[in-house]
Amino acid sequence: MIQKPRGTIDILPDESPVWRFIEDTARKVASNYGYGEIRFPTFEATELFMRGVGNDTDVVQKEMYTFYDRDNRSLTLRPEGTACVARSVIENSLYADSMPLRLYYLSSCFRYEKPQAGRSREFYQFGAELFGAATAVADAEIISLADAIIRNIGIKSVSLHINTLGCSDCRPRYHSRLKEYYKLNISNLCETCRDRLETNPLRILDCKNNDCVKLREGVPKTIDFLCDDCGEHFEILKRTLTKIGIDYRINTNIVRGLDYYTRTVFEFISDDIGAQGTLCGGGRYDGLIEAIGGPSTTGIGFAMGITRLILALKSSDNNIKSKYNENPLLYIASLGETASVHAVSLAEKLRAGGIFAECDIIGRSLKAQMKYADKKGAAFTLILGDNEIESGKAQLKNMRDGSQTPVDINDTDILRRLLGYDK
Ligand code: HAM
Repeated sequence: MIQKPRGTIDILPDESPVWRFIEDTARKVASNYGYGEIRFPTFEATELFMRGVGNDTDVVQKEMYTFYDRDNRSLTLRPEGTACVARSVIENSLYADSMPLRLYYLSSCFRYEKPQAGRSREFYQFGAELFGAATAVADAEIISLADAIIRNIGIKSVSLHINTLGCSDCRPRYHSRLKEYYKLNISNLCETCRDRLETNPLRILDCKNNDCVKLREGVPKTIDFLCDDCGEHFEILKRTLTKIGIDYRINTNIVRGLDYYTRTVFEFISDDIGAQGTLCGGGRYDGLIEAIGGPSTTGIGFAMGITRLILALKSSDNNIKSKYNENPLLYIASLGETASVHAVSLAEKLRAGGIFAECDIIGRSLKAQMKYADKKGAAFTLILGDNEIESGKAQLKNMRDGSQTPVDINDTDILRRLLGYDK
């Protein structure tokens, strides 16, 4: 048997209503905040991620799915969406439109990571990016969008962690302090981090190697090295979050694993779903557009992993399957050939009116039909035999409570109402 590649998932019909619920909720909330949907290619030039995400990141060094096409171009399956959106903003000159520019996306991403609960090699993100708004109030707005999506999905026990990484003015001071700290402990760093010490010491802070993680205690914090502008930006962000009623905690360990971040970074973390508890991560990236060849344009955004949102939702509500199932199914059972033809035509009529209806199409016995209806979770059933067809009347059975209601099978309006479609 050919199996799916390690670290990928099949989303089966049973599970997909929850996915759609999450995706629809995220889309709806983002639209209310003025975000328009953007879609972009599954693969991009490898250079985009090297320059955008950063050569020293784990994502670029260890996790990308890179291949050469038949023309020997190096291409990479997108490991994340931000660099792709930024590329599209430049290529389509969207920065020339009136600012701010608000975009959202739903996309699969690919990273060669060690699979575990909440971590896969192909995963799905909902992301939002806001360009051309440099203020701390804009940071608060994007954080509030992420917060609103998580709340509207119904996830509980999640907390917002914020930090600031400073800017190109104050970061060099921090980097030299960080280098001093790690040089004293160089023998305990992994080989990759020894190289990073010279090229990009901030990346040592998100290395997953145990020895490097241990060294994090006592490490200097970005927050203590901020220039006045970055300090003020962070203060305004905190004030605005408090004013809009979003709880947060300052977590100086949040440095994010991608190189493009400046100033504000944040994560929404759940304690309920194990080690991979970060549901959403994001931050400001004021230098990204320029780094990949566009005009100086500020940006901030976030992405949330759909699988992790589902895990968190399940942990706070273990009945989600039934809750997010689509419209109630009406199963029309039939006895005999005439009734079977009638059932098909009635099902067609109901579906044309937007009703979710199924009937037997393989000539099963009534008992087998009812068993099937039960397995499919039909909310209602209607049994058609010769009598019902002649009289035009049948009993609509509510499968949840067993009650029966006589109905005129040719009156689709009444059926709609009884099935609960016109609430
Ligand atoms: P990220 O932190 O790499 O950021 O990923 C964002 C979210 O995607 C994570 O918080 C997690 O929920 C999910 N995720 C990441 N990797 C995996 C995986 N291997 N399996 C399952 N879920 C995963 C970014 O991707 C940035 N582009 C976010 C951003 C947008 N920053 C600014 N704008």
